[in-house]
Amino acid sequence: MKIHTILSGLMGCAFATGSTIQARQGGPNACRCLPSDDCWPSDNTWDGLNNTVNGQLVKTVPIGSPCHDPTYDAEACNALQQRWTQGSLHLPTDSSPMQMYFANQSCDAFTPRGQPCVLGNYVAYSVKVSQPDDVVAAVKFADKNNLRLVIRNTGHDFFGRSTGAGALSVWTHHLKSTEVIPNYTSKSYSGPAMRFGAGVTGAEAAEAAHKAGLTVVVGGCPSVGVAGGFIQGGGHSTLSTTYGLAADQALEYEVVTATGAILTASPKKNPDLFWALSGGGGGNYAVVTSVIVRAHEASNIGGASMQILAGDVTPATYAAIIAKFHELAPQMADSGATIMYILNGLYFNLAPVTVVDSTGDYVRNEVLGEFIDFLDENNVKYAAGFSTLAFRDHYDRYLGPLPWGSLSSSDYQYGGRLIPRSVVENEPAKLSAAITSLLPDRVIAVGTLGNFNPPHAVSNAVQPKWRSTLIQLQLLTQWSTKPEDWDAMLANQARMTDDFVPRIKAVTPDGAAYMNEADFNEPDWKHAFYGESYEQLAKTKKEWDPKGLFWTLKGVASDQWTVAEDGKMCRA
Ligand SMILES: Cc1cc2nc3c(=O)[nH]c(=O)nc-3n(C[C@H](O)[C@H](O)[C@H](O)COP(=O)(O)OP(=O)(O)OC[C@H]3O[C@@H](n4cnc5c(N)ncnc54)[C@H](O)[C@@H]3O)c2cc1C
Ligand SMILES: *[C@@H]1O[C@H](CO)[C@@H](O)[C@H](O)[C@H]1NC(C)=O
Ligand SMILES: *[C@@H]1O[C@H](CO)[C@@H](O)[C@H](O)[C@H]1NC(C)=O
Ligand SMILES: *[C@@H]1O[C@H](CO)[C@@H](O)[C@H](O)[C@H]1NC(C)=O
Repeated sequence: MKIHTILSGLMGCAFATGSTIQARQGGPNACRCLPSDDCWPSDNTWDGLNNTVNGQLVKTVPIGSPCHDPTYDAEACNALQQRWTQGSLHLPTDSSPMQMYFANQSCDAFTPRGQPCVLGNYVAYSVKVSQPDDVVAAVKFADKNNLRLVIRNTGHDFFGRSTGAGALSVWTHHLKSTEVIPNYTSKSYSGPAMRFGAGVTGAEAAEAAHKAGLTVVVGGCPSVGVAGGFIQGGGHSTLSTTYGLAADQALEYEVVTATGAILTASPKKNPDLFWALSGGGGGNYAVVTSVIVRAHEASNIGGASMQILAGDVTPATYAAIIAKFHELAPQMADSGATIMYILNGLYFNLAPVTVVDSTGDYVRNEVLGEFIDFLDENNVKYAAGFSTLAFRDHYDRYLGPLPWGSLSSSDYQYGGRLIPRSVVENEPAKLSAAITSLLPDRVIAVGTLGNFNPPHAVSNAVQPKWRSTLIQLQLLTQWSTKPEDWDAMLANQARMTDDFVPRIKAVTPDGAAYMNEADFNEPDWKHAFYGESYEQLAKTKKEWDPKGLFWTLKGVASDQWTVAEDGKMCRA
């Protein structure tokens, strides 16, 4: 089995089976049309859409096609293989998801040349949108022709939510406008703001803000989009301890709705849609074409990175270092820091420590002072660097080089958990022991430590448990690009679900997970990803998308559909 079967594929489906009994059960339009179905639009019909969108309709050619006959090209294929695990290869394309699992090896760079390159779980067509009207055309076309609709921005999504078998994609990558609004004024906020087109990345937003003497909340990875899955899924940042989550920055969205209306969603206009778009999950309520976010007067950023090698100390000392760090975590956050860290059996990196309106000296002495004392007392060697920089330069130094960043993204699989502050305060040893227990299993723990409460009042759909979270903890295992390792990778993913994440769950009962950085097989997903927001989100979803045009894996109301292993999507 490749693509995870969400439920049995044997649902009533008129188009797939032609069975009258099943057709009666399912009714018309019970399943989305696939290219192999009779209901698939004719070339003429597609040409009509292409005219409407001014020739910007793209028929998918999977990027791996030069690795397969009859389009094999040795040089091009070799170049693809070299870069296959780099996000920067997939990001600018119209259809390639970064998470290889969701590409389902249907046109993989490493599978045999003789194996045909087929669409499989790739979208079939994309509209390269340059204006809201293009989105309107795509949305109406998908609705009228009973097609699966997907929204793609950067393709970063861990749940493959920006790809889908036989789908028409709204491809927002080229919506690159940035605008400074010196004094945005509304009932809840007056001050500097910025408007970003839906295709703007964190790096581009940071550059534009920097030029205007401002700072905006962006993701750790500079190539993650601002207005797509990041802000709509909640969005944590190296700036979160000071400013809150990305969703907390939203002032208004320009959107295209499921019925093809262009409108504004803000606390004043269509407030329920605004609420849902701010943290309720990407790709599920409307297509955002631009967002206006709070901007903050730029200040110096105190920064640091630090590395400790496991091989330099005994296993007991390494465990003690990890325990000490988690014991000190609450006071580090309270000193104003947001800290990203990576921990595995080989090294423990803080990368970076970020404090707004501060200096490298402050980070050295006030944030990390007690931790460094502990290292010195125990004769632990470490490498560290401290800095006082503009945010843009801090971003470039520790998470860059801009615009891509150093984080590769395609060769891991993920699990995650939000760790409440109360657990870190009351049971730091238990938490550290759970994390340390994963290291011999080659799990990589990636933490973002901070306070995730904005300094201003907000009402949005962010999983409420974020507000009592101290650490957003991700668990990663390495993904192999070798085709023959596929089943072993699936076994690893199952182990993430059945063994690795449960070890953290055991110390965080009744806890939550960040929907953008979790295990896509999370069994307790409604509770973990949405919590108390789920019910209101389901109502909003029904109101704004009654026909279920938008669908994402483990999105709100996604259980109203099933997606079979072959990609056939039918009403449940
Ligand atoms: C290397 C790496 C680092 C990361 N670092 C961070 C981090 O520091 N903080 C953090 O919070 N997250 C981080 N993430 C997770 C990231 O927030 C999610 O992957 C997010 O979904 C990416 O959004 P995107 O729009 O760029 O990507 P896409 O994969 O293109 O889209 C993601 C989802 O959003 C939907 N979507 C995209 N655009 C729109 C739109 N205009 N309107 C409506 N729906 C839309 C898509 O349909 C899909 O469901 C990281 C991911 C990676 C791979
Ligand atoms: C859409 O039209 C443009 C311009 O004529 C053309 O280049 C492109 O190939 C067309 N797309 C499809 C899918 O036919
Ligand atoms: C994924 O790959 C498997 C095995 O090749 C295939 O049976 C399945 O149909 C594919 N799924 C999609 C959505 O293409
Ligand atoms: C911004 O606009 C508001 C409302 O019009 C006004 O009260 C405020 O003084 C303005 N701020 C600046 C910095 O111009």
